[in-house]
Amino acid sequence: MTRKTKVLFVCLGNICRSPMAEAVMRHFVMEEKLADVIEVDSAGTGDWHIGKQPHEGTRTLLDNKQISYTGMKARQITGSDEVDFQYIVCMDDQNLKDVQAVFNAAKADGAKGKVITFMSLVDGAEVTEVPDPYYTGNFEYVYELIDEGCRKLLEDIKSEWK
Ligand code: 4NP
Repeated sequence: MTRKTKVLFVCLGNICRSPMAEAVMRHFVMEEKLADVIEVDSAGTGDWHIGKQPHEGTRTLLDNKQISYTGMKARQITGSDEVDFQYIVCMDDQNLKDVQAVFNAAKADGAKGKVITFMSLVDGAEVTEVPDPYYTGNFEYVYELIDEGCRKLLEDIKSEWK
């Protein structure tokens, strides 16, 4: 049975890694004509960039791959995201801790989404966290991880429907 599944990617600033994952995942969802049943969003644990478009490095990379990020604006995670989304996918271990702290404090009522790390979706990588290109400048490597992880997440969601 196909149900609506909502996915939230989370990083620190919501301008580099999680918006890249949001755009890539939405691109796959559109390619597979699943936009009616899979919704994708992203958020940051920090509040510095609320309302801003993705970082120039993420925009340039997505432009080069012809992946749309139209209308995307940074927002901060909220306590209700835990019940609004079925998957909350954190880019690094600190993001995971910060998300859990927000959710624990909010004590939202309702069925709660799965909180996972992005790298739990990627086999055989040399890193256990998605490195932050805000500091490393390596947007292409982040894209390689994100491309692989989003493909796996889409397969996981589809297999849950079976
Ligand atoms: P992101 O990268 O978490 O992948 O969006 C960062 C963006 C901004 C900052 C840190 C990380 N910052 O400190 O402003």
